[in-house]
Amino acid sequence: MKNSGKRIAALCAALSFAAPLAAAEPQTVIRFSHVVAPEAPKGKAAEFFAGRVAELTRGAVKVEVYANSTLYKDKEEMEALQLGAVQMLAPSVAKLAPLGLKEFEVFDLPYIFDTTALLHKVTQGPIGAALLDRLEPKGIKGLAFWDNGLKSFSANRPLRTPADFRDLKLRIQPSKVLESQTRALGAFPLVTAFSDVYQALQTGIVDGTENPHSNFYTQRMHEVQGHMTLTGHGYLGYVVIANKRFWDGLPSRIRNLIEQAVKEATVYANRIAQEENDQALAKIRETGQTQVHEPTPAELAEFKKALLRTHREMAPRIGREIIEAIYRETGFTPGGDAGTR
Ligand code: LMR
Repeated sequence: MKNSGKRIAALCAALSFAAPLAAAEPQTVIRFSHVVAPEAPKGKAAEFFAGRVAELTRGAVKVEVYANSTLYKDKEEMEALQLGAVQMLAPSVAKLAPLGLKEFEVFDLPYIFDTTALLHKVTQGPIGAALLDRLEPKGIKGLAFWDNGLKSFSANRPLRTPADFRDLKLRIQPSKVLESQTRALGAFPLVTAFSDVYQALQTGIVDGTENPHSNFYTQRMHEVQGHMTLTGHGYLGYVVIANKRFWDGLPSRIRNLIEQAVKEATVYANRIAQEENDQALAKIRETGQTQVHEPTPAELAEFKKALLRTHREMAPRIGREIIEAIYRETGFTPGGDAGTR
């Protein structure tokens, strides 16, 4: 009796010693910054990722998600990642070229992906993996591609044909392909941080923009854009990236669990993106503030004809090899004025 009492006392002492030790173990914090609303596909996927990391690591790793440019704007977030002020981001593919990664602009080429399945052959296949590897010399670990969706053009005048774009100032992301695309329509490109787009549209610094419907609706652009045309002319998606030194410094067991969470979040992101964009379009229509125009096949053909020449114009910059590898993978056949040669 006496001995068993001692054993219990010893066990209690051991437990009370062990508990604070475990609690004192430093928690790894991942600051994940992004520029869209928490309700946008990327915002939801980032929260999903944070939840899975907490579950898989049993709280050893905490992902703090900072949405809506609350921590950093477009350009600043890239610098913050490279400096280690944040550990993870998911910038759109268009935002990597300013780091010297021009090949990522291939995703901005108008009409390059006919279907989501073809897009995924690239982003989830060997071409996507090779592109992620190219981030390493920049001190960035590329982890995955997440979808948003196809972009529509908007402005305060109807945009039925390419001629309607003449002399419009269009907000674009920092991509030379988007610049070329805008000029192909006779409009002026103006690079603006995503966080400043609403105000730029409201004050007339720019007249129009292009975005997937989820971004358009969650940034309330319907309040400042009277017309939208469902051109679906280009893709907007994300590269999930981490500061490489941080990533390499993680214990391998933890890194594997985070990788698992990235995989699951990728499936989730790519599953919800289309539905989120469809719902956002329905909500834009409901506001009655933006008139949504569904182009006829003849109007679409005109847009395609005007925009495809960007493929040829931009090939020397992006690299013919990668463009042609994507053409082969997707069966894309550039017609008329397009093509890389
Ligand atoms: C934009 O700047 O339009 C987009 O990159 C925003 C985003 O991250 O979806």
